[in-house]
Amino acid sequence: LDDLLGEGVRGRRVLVRADLNVPLDGEKITDDGRVRAALPTIRSLTEAGARVVVAAHLGRPKGTPDPAFSLRPVAVRLGELLGSEVTLAGDVVGDQAKAAAESLGDGGVVLLENVRFDARETSKSEDERAELARELAALTGDDGAFVSDGFGVVHRKQASVYDVARVLPAYAGGLVLAELEVLRTLTGDPQRPYAVVLGGSKVSDKLAVIEALLPKVDRLLVGGGMCFTFLAAQGHGVGSSLLESDMVDTCKRLLAEAGDKLLLPADIVVADAFAADAAKRTVPVTGIEDGWMGLDIGPTTVAAFGAAVRDARTLFWNGPMGVFEMAPFAHGTRGVASAIAESEAFSVVGGGDSAAAVRLLGLPEDGFSHISTGGGASLEYLEGKELPGVAVLSEER
Ligand code: 3PG
Repeated sequence: LDDLLGEGVRGRRVLVRADLNVPLDGEKITDDGRVRAALPTIRSLTEAGARVVVAAHLGRPKGTPDPAFSLRPVAVRLGELLGSEVTLAGDVVGDQAKAAAESLGDGGVVLLENVRFDARETSKSEDERAELARELAALTGDDGAFVSDGFGVVHRKQASVYDVARVLPAYAGGLVLAELEVLRTLTGDPQRPYAVVLGGSKVSDKLAVIEALLPKVDRLLVGGGMCFTFLAAQGHGVGSSLLESDMVDTCKRLLAEAGDKLLLPADIVVADAFAADAAKRTVPVTGIEDGWMGLDIGPTTVAAFGAAVRDARTLFWNGPMGVFEMAPFAHGTRGVASAIAESEAFSVVGGGDSAAAVRLLGLPEDGFSHISTGGGASLEYLEGKELPGVAVLSEER
């Protein structure tokens, strides 16, 4: 981005790929963290006089316009935060997008409609993606540029993330650079003890990162829905808790490989239904009865996990410890997250859900060294995978 600003951008149209994929309740944004994280790059461009065309996605529409996935609420919020109106183009690369881009003045911002309304965005066909990329690039006219700033989506080989960087002069935005610098600290030579806290619903989603991290960490704490497959692998009954039966053998192997490094819950808050007003009680992991489902880790576990993170020097946390969206099952996530926030460690929160939990539970954001905007992207980085949207920026052209 500094290179681009150094070239001068006044009057030039710059396409910025941002990750504005925020959680919505109807038209209401429940966590605007990603919109706020996109501001510095957009601001530095508008302040330098660029005409900014923002491309972003929301959710996973089926490659066709769908009002339920419109970026309209995001355009409104972006405008509020920037302090100047942001026009939402009614389409991605059609007449409305062209007109909106052409009518931009210096320092103006237009947001294109959800780029996934165009099926070519996520197409497996490189030709189709390249065609959309050329149409996106054309919105910037003859002397356009592309700034890749949607860190949360750089693990996707998609037209507005990857292919467009092969068409326009392409630059890394400040958010992408900042996120990569933090993650490099975790994969480089982290200060020890290095503890990782993983939660979320599925072991299968986290398997690759568990395999990659186990040799590198001193402690791996597992809570959230995924802990029940591990508990089943230890021979415990898990009632009607989340269980990935086809992963039980894998969990047995991981438990054997990890030895003392892997900490599982000792007690669980179980409920008789998946509802905030369900009957609930706390039981030891040996006592989860049929008909009951685990929706949070219990207080003994919160204390043990808290102790295990408190003296760590490096911490990475991804995934809630329970169904934190329902107040009766938020204690585990709140307790562990608070212990992380209170620790002196270099602490990184990775992922959409965990970052949202920090804000929704009102935890002090400044207690964490870094709250990543990337869920899948930060996990894939830690797995050691190449991120296509980053790799493409250093391709020879
Ligand atoms: C995310 O929410 O992790 C990013 O916005 C990417 O979204 P996706 O998983 O639908 O590609």
